[in-house]
Parts: sequence; C-alpha cells; structure tokens
Amino acid sequence: MWAETFATNVTGVFLTVQALLPNLRAAGAARIAIISSQMASHTHASGGSYIYRASKAAALNLGRNLAADLAPEGIAVGIYHPGWVRTDMGGEAAEISVDEAAEGLIARFAALGPQSTGCFQTWDGHDHPY
Ligand SMILES: NC(=O)c1ccc[n+]([C@@H]2O[C@H](COP(=O)([O-])OP(=O)(O)OC[C@H]3O[C@@H](n4cnc5c(N)ncnc54)[C@H](OP(=O)(O)O)[C@@H]3O)[C@@H](O)[C@H]2O)c1
Repeated sequence: MWAETFATNVTGVFLTVQALLPNLRAAGAARIAIISSQMASHTHASGGSYIYRASKAAALNLGRNLAADLAPEGIAVGIYHPGWVRTDMGGEAAEISVDEAAEGLIARFAALGPQSTGCFQTWDGHDHPY
C-alpha cells in the first residue's frame, strides 16, 4: 500500500510535471497546480491515515521545491486542498459538491502567478498552514 500510494500521489505528480515541462516552457508564464490535501499539513497533524498523509505531505514538498526551481523561468506552482468533497473518496457525507470544489479551485488556479508561487491554499482561497 505504501509503494502503490506513493507511485500515484508522489511519483505520478513529479513525472507528470517533468513530462510537460517542455510544453510549459514553450507556453510562457505557465502554471502548475498540484492537488494535495489538508492532511499534508504537519502543523495540523492529528494522527492516523499514515500512508495517505505522508504521500500528500510529499506532494506538498514537491510543489514547494518545484516552485523554487521554476521561479526563474516564470513558471508558478500552487499546492491545493480541494475541500472535503462528495466524490468516491470523500463519500456522501462530505461538506461540498464536486462543482463547488472545482469552481473554487479554478479561481485559485487563475489567481496563481509569480507573486504567489509555492502557496498552499484551500479551495475557497485561504492559506493553509504547512
Ligand atoms: N474528496 C476529498 O474529500 C478530497 C480531500 C482532500 C484531497 N483530495 C484529493 O483530490 C484528488 C481527487 O480526489 P477524488 O476525491 O476525486 O478521489 P476519487 O473519487 O477516489 O477519484 C480518484 C481518481 O484518481 C484516479 N486514480 C487513482 N489511482 C490512479 C492511478 N494509479 N493512475 C491514474 N489515475 C488514478 C481514479 O481513476 P479510476 O476511476 O480510473 O480508478 C479516479 O479518477 C486526489 O488527489 C485526492 O487525494 C480529495
């Protein structure tokens, strides 16, 4: 479970960015949005879900370091908590709909730029503690 989760949530994120970098460089002023989770936070560490939490913390870490490396090229990187969303993963009791999460995230992606690169934000625009 550790290897499978890290392959999807961490290696998958990195290899996707790596594969698309030539396109992002060609586009100019490009943006990368990484979907992490509030469960990535080491400030809000309430225990449990160790594999998922560690994988999302690693995705947050990747995003922060990519932001530093890609800033000189004008490529901005944002890391996001999509909310507790009514998907297969979130379940029917979750707080927000897919549409609400998507609309919020799209607004966050649109606002992402060099001034906010490396941000860790919630779907509704709050800075999340790292
Ligand atoms: N829902 C929440 O409350 C919540 C909260 C915090 C963060 N997130 C994050 O938001 C993102 C979307 O979550 P979700 O709620 O939409 O989850 P979901 O309903 O479980 O959907 C997960 C999606 O990921 C795909 N997937 C899983 N493993 C994959 C792999 N190895 N290769 C390619 N695709 C794979 C699945 O494809 P198949 O359908 O083909 O299996 C599915 O489309 C995730 O990164 C999740 O960690 C969600």
